[in-house]
Parts: sequence; structure tokens; C-alpha cells
Amino acid sequence: MPGDLSVLAARRTVRFYTPAAVPDDVVRALLEAAQLAPSAHNSQPTRFVVIRSSEMRRRLTSRMARRWRRDLERNGTSEAAIRVQLRFSERRFGEAPLLILVGYTMEEMDEYPDRVRRAAEVTMAAQSAAVATLSLLLAATAHGLGGCWCCAPLFCPGIVRRALGLPRAFAPQALLTIGYPAHTPSIPPRKPLDGIVTFL
Ligand SMILES: Cc1cc2nc3c(=O)[nH]c(=O)nc-3n(C[C@H](O)[C@H](O)[C@H](O)COP(=O)(O)O)c2cc1C
Repeated sequence: MPGDLSVLAARRTVRFYTPAAVPDDVVRALLEAAQLAPSAHNSQPTRFVVIRSSEMRRRLTSRMARRWRRDLERNGTSEAAIRVQLRFSERRFGEAPLLILVGYTMEEMDEYPDRVRRAAEVTMAAQSAAVATLSLLLAATAHGLGGCWCCAPLFCPGIVRRALGLPRAFAPQALLTIGYPAHTPSIPPRKPLDGIVTFL
């Protein structure tokens, strides 16, 4: 891969980190990289919440865990399996040196009278948040960091907003755990290109 693209190949989902803190100037560099991502109409609907306060972190993760437990119980998951999953989640969110919540707002997206175009705008806002998230994770790789994109907030947006005191307009999309990697994950297998590409 050409040198400029090597960060694409180097990026891996990293779920465990050393305790080393991520310096403030590096956090800022990651956010600046995310801001360079393309967005629909250049509306830049993506919003980032850097969770610095340990009290906020505890409040967010314990409330999300409570909801997850309820969902797992409803699924019929055994108590033992629930405990294992919640312990892993508690550890991952409790120990990650840096947590960044990514969301979007529709406030500056285009407005339409019909359902189809309104839905398309919402999709565009979510897509914009997704590409910004990838940019942030690629920048993290370039800075020697690893990160994990966790989709948990999508399942409990109201809980996330209330825990962090965020406005109703904030649509939570992902909680990113970031830190210096404590392991070197191998690349999870990719489908063969022939199976996912159609040449017409
Ligand atoms: C939209 C999205 C949601 C994801 N949610 C989670 C998650 O909740 N927990 C997790 O451990 N990894 C999550 N991941 C990471 C994927 O599991 C990971 O990207 C995939 O296994 C491929 O590995 P790689 O990122 O190292 O290439 C998510 C990734 C994406 C793009």
C-alpha cells in the first residue's frame, strides 16, 4: 500500500489499552482530523463529547449497563452470561484512557415536507457522523493510539442524553474508547472482493 495509505491498513479495532493518558494536544489533533471529514452539504452535523469527568463516565456507563442488562434479560440470556458481558463492558468503558461520544444534530440539515427526503437527510447526518468517526480513528492510529467504535449508545439514546445532560437534538451514534494499545490485534478476515463488488 502506498505510504500515504498505510494508516488504512494499520488501523485495527483495539479494545485494551495501557493506563497511559492521551495528552490533550493529541486529543485535539484527533478532533481536528475528524472535522476534516466530508459531510452532507458540508453541514457538519457531527458533535463530539470528550468525557473527561470520572463522575460523568461512571454515570453514563452504569446507566447504559442497567439498560443492557434489561435488554439481555428480555432476550432470555442466562444470569451467568449477562454477568460476563456486563463485566467486560464495565472494564472496557471504565478503564479506557479516553472516551469520546459521537453524535449528530439535525439542526442545520435541510428540511423537507415529505417523509422520503426527511429520512434521507437523517441518513446523511448519520453517514456524516460515521465518516468523521473513521477519520478520528485513523488519526488515532497515526498517533500510535488504538480505538474501538462501540455502538451501545444507539440502543439507548435517551439514557445517554440524560446521563450527560445533552440536548434533545443530540443523536448519540457511537462511544469511542481510545488509548495506547495493550495488544496487537490481527486483522479479522475480510470477505473476498468478488463477493462484495459488482462490475457492470
Ligand atoms: C458501526 C460499527 C459499530 C461497531 N460496534 C462495536 C461494538 O459495539 N463493540 C465492539 O467491540 N466493536 C464494535 N465495532 C468494531 C468492529 O467489531 C470491527 O470494526 C470489526 O470487527 C473489524 O475489525 P477491525 O476494525 O480491526 O478492522 C463496530 C464497528 C462499526 C463500524
